[in-house]
Amino acid sequence: MTSFVLGTGSCLPRRVLTNRELEAMVDTSDEWISTRTGIKTRHIAGPGEETSKLAAGAAREALRMAGLGPGDIDILLVATVSSEMGMPSCACLTQKELGAEAAFAYDVNAACSGFLYALDLADAYLRRDPALKIMIIGAETLSSRVNWRDRDTCVLFGDGAGACLVSGASPGSGLLASRLFSDGRLFDLLCMDSARGFNPDLANARNTGSYITMTGREVFKHAVRAMSGAVEQVLAQGGLKASDIALFIPHQANIRIVNSLIERLGVPSEKFYVNIAKYGNTSAASIPIALDEAHREGRLRPGDLLLCCAFGSGFTWGASIVRW
Ligand code: ACO
Repeated sequence: MTSFVLGTGSCLPRRVLTNRELEAMVDTSDEWISTRTGIKTRHIAGPGEETSKLAAGAAREALRMAGLGPGDIDILLVATVSSEMGMPSCACLTQKELGAEAAFAYDVNAACSGFLYALDLADAYLRRDPALKIMIIGAETLSSRVNWRDRDTCVLFGDGAGACLVSGASPGSGLLASRLFSDGRLFDLLCMDSARGFNPDLANARNTGSYITMTGREVFKHAVRAMSGAVEQVLAQGGLKASDIALFIPHQANIRIVNSLIERLGVPSEKFYVNIAKYGNTSAASIPIALDEAHREGRLRPGDLLLCCAFGSGFTWGASIVRW
């Protein structure tokens, strides 16, 4: 039997920022952050830990697990909204970092849902040629996009990368079902308004950058409704029930969102993999980091059904079922 996932990996920056440290930066408390979000610490990238470097670190781990080298990668997809450069893509920078010269590489921008969008793309390529080896990475350094004076957002996000190397699986394995959605109408509830920096201020010869802004309570409601709907639809597409799923990996944005999902779906909480306390919301990296941890902890056995679901800026959201 040929496996779909050949290897997984993750890479976190060295610096860990605690809630206690945040108390000294903004008007917040460990108690507020812990009870409202479930987050205790997050990793923050420093010099030499740019998005592409973290992405390459995660990919190296996945290659090591697969017993393959960078030259074996045919396609390199990086889901990110926080590359260190606007151009070229983070994927091309990651390709250079890895030495994956045989691959073609590009980015996928779907915010926190990016990894699931990239997984869906990989599946489409594999239907054309099952022999391809596709590296899917979610990598973010949102610490560089956060206003560290805005307590509404700065306590939530963390940096990191996760990677998953996939190839054509035996029939009945691999990506069994996938439902993706987007709706741009409410884009301004969660965005990074680079439009303000789009028209240069010629009189003063400068551009004005901007930070992530979020209407948290509204995003929360949409996230719960959208993700539980996507889970129900992907289960229906696969002809499956929630009880058939061995492990759920939700996007790690807020423990209360995850708990609402658990309640709505009526699934035992032990079936949900949660690591938000350590990493915060790492956007597109959150699912692959959790996947790598769950895999290394032996939470997935051959034949198990894995369900991942995500929600993020756009809005974008979706759910995928993989037979391990
Ligand atoms: N510390 C202390 N108090 C705070 C903080 C803080 N860090 N942040 C906000 N507060 C205050 C608010 O000012 C407010 O005070 P008030 O009642 O006096 O007005 C109070 O806490 C409650 O604020 P809410 O915004 O209502 O708090 P809520 O319970 O909704 O939690 C949170 C906020 C954590 C942001 C939550 O709404 C959330 O998780 N939203 C969804 C995030 C998400 O899923 N994002 C999607 C993916 S991200 C991506 O795509 C990149």
